[in-house]
This record gives sequence, structure tokens and C-alpha cells, in this order.
Amino acid sequence: STKIKLGLFGFGCVGQGLYNVLNQTEGIKAEIVKICIKNPNKKRSLSADYFTLEKDEILFNEDINVVVEMIDDAEAAFQIVKTALQNGKAVVSANKKMIADHFDELYQLQKQYNAPLLYEASACASIPIIRNLEEYYDNDLLGAVEGIFNGSTNYILTKIFKDNIDFDTALKQAQEIGFAETDPTLDVEAYDPKYKLCIILAHTFGLFVKPEEVFNYGIQNLSTFDIQYANEKGYKIKLIAFCRKVDNKIVAGVLPRFIKPDNKLYNIENEYNGILVESAFTESQFFAGKGAGSNPTGSAVLSDISALTYSYKYEYKKHNRGAKVELTDDFSIDL
Ligand code: HSE
Repeated sequence: STKIKLGLFGFGCVGQGLYNVLNQTEGIKAEIVKICIKNPNKKRSLSADYFTLEKDEILFNEDINVVVEMIDDAEAAFQIVKTALQNGKAVVSANKKMIADHFDELYQLQKQYNAPLLYEASACASIPIIRNLEEYYDNDLLGAVEGIFNGSTNYILTKIFKDNIDFDTALKQAQEIGFAETDPTLDVEAYDPKYKLCIILAHTFGLFVKPEEVFNYGIQNLSTFDIQYANEKGYKIKLIAFCRKVDNKIVAGVLPRFIKPDNKLYNIENEYNGILVESAFTESQFFAGKGAGSNPTGSAVLSDISALTYSYKYEYKKHNRGAKVELTDDFSIDL
């Protein structure tokens, strides 16, 4: 297989995680050539030779065959990914907003330019959910996927319930450790898990939807009364993303829910994410793992880079089979 020469965009929490994980992985045929950054004044742990402020130094660099996009700004990220794919480079991205906002265009670009785009890190970080939905369930009928898709809010809820720490202090901690988005309202108001849900919807049911079409309600208005009520009943409150197929309708959304002790999601704490998958023949399965953080997310990015060494690409099998499903806002469907 050809050696992978990487051009990185962004060297924040995820970028540094990738660097750590790559350095500690023996035998992987990938090396970093250049890293494009926005802020030249930040202190960096690597030699200045690696860094550039010019994106074209990566996008039009003949030596680079894989572009890894790990920046914050979803629109800037889309332009980078688009140009990279148009230039026949393979792309790995961790940017759930960019992918959810531009799913259709990104799908078309991959087909048109025959260039792969992988994004395992974008949904639930270290849990290999996209690869499983793509590959494992190829011959099975998926009925529902639901779970905790946001590490920051789960960290906050854990601190509130277990350690009696107030919301603002817990959020500050989540930001300091690097779990939260730069704009933490994306986490708190459940936009971040909604973007991940849009990605999951495509790989679960072949349904391409815009984030605006999907309902989200975060933990911003939880009251002390809600928390007291949950404690009295022996429940926890978790921010739950869900999608379920009923006939040819898909009901999907994100909202806080009371979770009972017999639910597997009850014990998913801190920055962990958990995902329940229901399918016809395997019945119920459960995935869990760190859903945020530098190394766990960097590890998912590296897994995609590694998959490119054997020419892996998403086939969007469920979509390409022409699954005729549509989103419904009929929330009376029993979840
Ligand atoms: N802000 C996200 C979270 C990071 O808290 O889950 C991982 O996508």
C-alpha cells in the first residue's frame, strides 16, 4: 500500500490527540507533512517547520495524499474538504456540523471525484459506530439507534447528580478538559448531538436530512425541581438522541429524558457516550466509549487514516439501495 502523507487542518484538542496517538502507534504507514493553523502566535509543541498559515500549501501539495480536517468553523471546513476532494485527495474529518450541513454535496463530491471521505471521529468519538452501521448491519434490518451522543452534557449531568456540583462549574470543567465545543451552547442546547444524529440517520436508514429538520432540545432549562424529582424516583436525567423506524417513517430527535436504573444508558457517566442499536436479527446491542477528549477522538481519526491504507470507503449501502423512508414529526410513536 502507498505511504500516507498527511496534511492537517487545525492543531487543537483533536489535532494534538491525533499527533499523540500517531506517535505511539508502531508500524502505521502515515506521516505528517504540514499543519495549517489559524493562530501563528500560539505556543506549539512541534517544530515551526511543520506549520503554515496557507491552506493551499496543503490543498495543492503533490506530496500530500490525505487531508485531515479538524477545525472549528464548519463553512471554512466545507471549502477545505470540497477542494481536497476535487483534487483527488482522500479526506478524514471530525467535523460533525460540516458533515451534517453538507451531507448530500459531500456524498456527490465523493462519487464525482472518486475520492473517499471518512468521518468516524465525528459521531461519538471513540465508538466505532459509523463503521459498524456501514459494514456489520449490511444484511440486517435496523429498527432503532438511540443513546448519549454528547460527552460534555453527560459530564455536566453526572457532576450535578453525583457530586452535587452546580451547572456552571461543571460546564467550566468540561470546557477546560476540552470536551465542550468552542461555543458550548452547541453542546448544552443539543445541536452537537443532533449533528451526530443526522450522520447516524444516513448510515442507519439511508436517510439524508438537514439538521434544521430534526428536533433538538437541550439541558439549558433543567430545573432543580426536575433533578429533585429524578432523585426521588431513583432516575437519572440524560440527554438522549434517538431515531426509530416505524413502517417507512423515521422519528428522530434529541431531548433530555428520565432514565431508569435498568436502562444500559443509566451507568454511562462523565464524557462517555453509549449507543443502543436494535435490529431484527441481532436484537438489542450496546456500545459504549469515550465520546469526547483529545486522545479518544484522535484515535478515531487515526483509525480512518489507517483504513485508507487499505482503500476503505463508505458505500452508503442503505441509501444506495433506495430505502424509501421519510422523517416524521409524529412524536406520538412509542419510543
Ligand atoms: N463537544 C462534543 C461532546 C465533542 O461534548 O461530545 C465530541 O464530539
